[in-house]
Parts: sequence; C-alpha cells; structure tokens
Amino acid sequence: MPFSKTHLLGIEPLDQSEIITVLDLANEYVELNQREMKHSDRLSGLTQVNMFFENSTRTQASFELAGKRLGADVMNMAMQASSINKGETLIDTALALNAMHPDLLVVRHPHSGAVDLLAQKVACTVLNAGDGRHEHPTQALLDALTIRRSKGRLHGLSVAICGDIAHSRVARSNIILLGKMENRVRLVGPPTLMPAGIGEFGVEVFDNMEEGLANVDIVMMLRLQRERMDGGFIPSEREYYHRYGLDSAKLTHAKPDAIVMHPGPMNRGVEIDGELADDINRSVIPEQVEMGVAVRMAAMDLLARNLKSIRNCGNGKNRNTPEGTAQ
Ligand code: NCD
Repeated sequence: MPFSKTHLLGIEPLDQSEIITVLDLANEYVELNQREMKHSDRLSGLTQVNMFFENSTRTQASFELAGKRLGADVMNMAMQASSINKGETLIDTALALNAMHPDLLVVRHPHSGAVDLLAQKVACTVLNAGDGRHEHPTQALLDALTIRRSKGRLHGLSVAICGDIAHSRVARSNIILLGKMENRVRLVGPPTLMPAGIGEFGVEVFDNMEEGLANVDIVMMLRLQRERMDGGFIPSEREYYHRYGLDSAKLTHAKPDAIVMHPGPMNRGVEIDGELADDINRSVIPEQVEMGVAVRMAAMDLLARNLKSIRNCGNGKNRNTPEGTAQ
C-alpha cells in the first residue's frame, strides 16, 4: 500500500501517491458518512486521545466524530484543566499519557514543532491537528479532496490563497500540498501579512486582489489571525475589507466557475462578504467541513494499519518504546 507513515505530522513528508491514497480512501468514507448507519469497526478496540492546547471547534469535533464513526474509544483531554497549568512540561504529560497505552494521539499546540517533539516520546501514532504557524496537514488534505471533487482533478489548477498568510499553518500546508500536486499557487495579501522567505515557496505574490485573482480556479480565503498578531499589521478592519475582503465584485476577476473556500472560523465582513460565503453556487465552505470528517477517518485508518503491522512485527515487544518514528 503506498502509505507507509505511522505519524501524520505535516504534508512535507508525504509524496504524491500517499496524498492520493488518503484522498481515495476518504472518498469512500464520504459515502459512509452520508448513510443512515455510519459505523465501521476499523479502529475498534483502539484508543484515540485528543489533546487540544489551543481552542478549536470544528477540528476537534471532526476528529472526535471521525474516531467514533470508526469505532475507536475517543477521549478528549481538557487541556485548560490539565497539569500543564500546574507546571508540568509537555513531555511529562506525553509520557504520563503514553503509560495509558493510547493508540492514536491527536494534538493541537500553539508552538511550531511541539507535535513533532511529542511524537518522538510516545509509542503510538500522532496526528498533527495544527502546530503554531507550521502545519495543519488534515486541513490541506480536506481542502484537496474538496477541490478534487469540485473540479474533477487536483493538478494544473490556479489557486489564490488570500489574506493573513504569515500567521497561517493552513496556508503553509496548502502551499506544500498544491505544489506537490503540480498546481500554480498565488499568494494575495498585504506585504505585512506575507511570511519572510516567501521566495522559497515557489509561488507568485500579489498585494492587489484584482490582479491576484485574475483567471484563478480557486479562491481560498484565510482568517485574519488577530491572536497571533502583536502589532499593527493592518490599518483597520474596514480598510482591510475594502482592499482584501472577498466580495462578488472582486470575485468577477477569477474564472466564471471559480470556487470560494475558507477553513473557518470566518470573520464575515472582515476577510469575506457574508452573502458570498453562503452562496451555494460559489462557496464550498460546507463541503470543506464535510470532507474534514472523511479525511480524518481515512488518515487515522491508514496510520492505524501501519501501527498494527509494526506492532505485529515486533510481537508486541516494542509496545512501549517510541517506535514508528518514520514520518
Ligand atoms: C484553522 C486553524 O486553526 O489553523 N482553523 C481550522 O482548523 N479550521 C484556521 C484558523 O484558525 O483561522
């Protein structure tokens, strides 16, 4: 099977065939999720622990539902009430959890690299649910599935990612995935919201929406991530909306059948016009949420199969050692 990983820490370590394997399996789970009986037993007997050190609504709910639909025992750790607040380090928390024999650990953390570090300390599969400004691999995969289902392909497309690129792990994972799948990526936004070293990404950069959106197939809007800003990155929200907010007038510069995406949560009237976000002829935002559950089911299923085969090879001896660090 062309998916050999035991962790999903980012899009960077995946190759084209691994991305396609996840998306193909996710497509099957989309169908399961549309049935009345949505149960499978792929993760039956396995324990999934969700550790969210940052607020999350849809990603946490999506991972929880994905695990439950596959029959795992799912536990959500209340990280606000955890021993981290009593001074325990991330590593001590991880080691304590590890001793409870989880099989899948889903982690969101405000620091880039924290999830990778944790994966080196535990004996189970780790999925990155967003680490700082680094990566958010399941978001990029669910976006890819949404694009593939809407456009019928995932190559040769022109994609504009717009807004607060500098603070966005969603942008980073999408730039990597769309590049690997041979699409053209444009970044559109004010220079203050572009990350340093943007030249290395192999993308085109625009600070004007009309030019940036010209003839694109996909317009992906990003939230203005105020919580990650420590200074005046934009003059005012009103001014920002005027120049960079997506409305139907700006969208006329894209292809007539261009789709509009947003990972959520949305700031209506800041980065996107509320009516456009709800326009079922242009916006695929609800489909993105639907694909999210299916992609997380596929990713956890594939990772758990690899974890099982590693454990079987070691006759269970390596059950408590940090094996499977192949990323
Ligand atoms: C994104 C995140 O947390 O990185 N949201 C999400 O996962 N749905 C984007 C954001 O917070 O703006």
